[in-house]
Amino acid sequence: MTELEATLDALTARFDAAVAAAPDAPALDEVRVAFLGRSGEVTAVRRGIGALPPAERPGAGKVINAAVEALEAKLAQAQSRVELAELEASLGDQIDVTFPGPPADLGYVHPIRRVAIEIARYFTRHGFAVLSGPEIETEANNFDALNIPPDHPAREGLDSFYVRPDRVLRTHTSPMQARAMRANPPPIAVIVPGRCYRRDAVDARHLYMFHQVEGLMVGKGVHFGHLKGLLVGMCRELFGPDADVRFRPSFFPFTEPSAEIDVKCPTCRGTGGECRTCGGSGWIEIGGSGMVHPNVLRGVGYDPDEVAGWAFGCGLERIAMKRYDIHDIRAFVENAPGFAEGLA
Ligand code: PHE
Repeated sequence: MTELEATLDALTARFDAAVAAAPDAPALDEVRVAFLGRSGEVTAVRRGIGALPPAERPGAGKVINAAVEALEAKLAQAQSRVELAELEASLGDQIDVTFPGPPADLGYVHPIRRVAIEIARYFTRHGFAVLSGPEIETEANNFDALNIPPDHPAREGLDSFYVRPDRVLRTHTSPMQARAMRANPPPIAVIVPGRCYRRDAVDARHLYMFHQVEGLMVGKGVHFGHLKGLLVGMCRELFGPDADVRFRPSFFPFTEPSAEIDVKCPTCRGTGGECRTCGGSGWIEIGGSGMVHPNVLRGVGYDPDEVAGWAFGCGLERIAMKRYDIHDIRAFVENAPGFAEGLA
């Protein structure tokens, strides 16, 4: 055996041992650098050719190249071995890709919408149509058609959001009374849930935006008793079978006579006393109502000598707060996670 062959045999033996001991691809790469890299062991052997016995020198390059080829082949084999081992190890991980994932949280219906849907269901059962109208209203519909005088404080920019001198974010759903009647001859029975805006300073009971549901029924012989019967029914649906309604004389320019609608406090059931929900009165105001003013009927082309009607407007936040025992109106717009969860 020549001196060069002996050197290469020893080198190969060390290489084999290093490859066998390399557990993974990075370790194998270290072996490659150490033996086959620029300043690795093979390069050292090449540099030593000049020091070989003269007879060995001419064929030395070839012999070394052949040895290097053998090393590279072994390295490539070892690389595919560790890759396969790594793949098998990863397949051994206990992941069942067919296993169903955690259920997606689809969210919940907002309590305001829940209440609006229930009220709409109740009234549609009684033959009412459900309408919706624009949130940007003409001053004429929001005020004039409702017999609201030009000097009424609600008309001031201080109380209402004007988007143009003659366009206002509707301050109530009542302008839909005029729109609905102008578009339909009597008799008419509609409810209109929707968003309204007022320039209120925000606190636990006030927001700049809130929801109302308007109710309107006009026809021959329509009277206040119809309003009372339907509202009692609505409240029993919302608050349970012993809910009750009371009307308190009030004033609205677009109804005559007018009344506030109170519901019996669902917490103390009307007994009042120390009840925090109703402040001890036993009743909670949820909206306004009355017999549609003759001027309003005339304004839309109805004949007040032929037909009569009533209208009401209830605050949906008010209703939802009582129903779900929510004490701060801001909760409706804060989108806290879980807020609507569990409400029914
Ligand atoms: N629009 C009135 C309000 O916002 C409520 C109302 C509606 C009163 C219909 C009478 C008739 O306060």
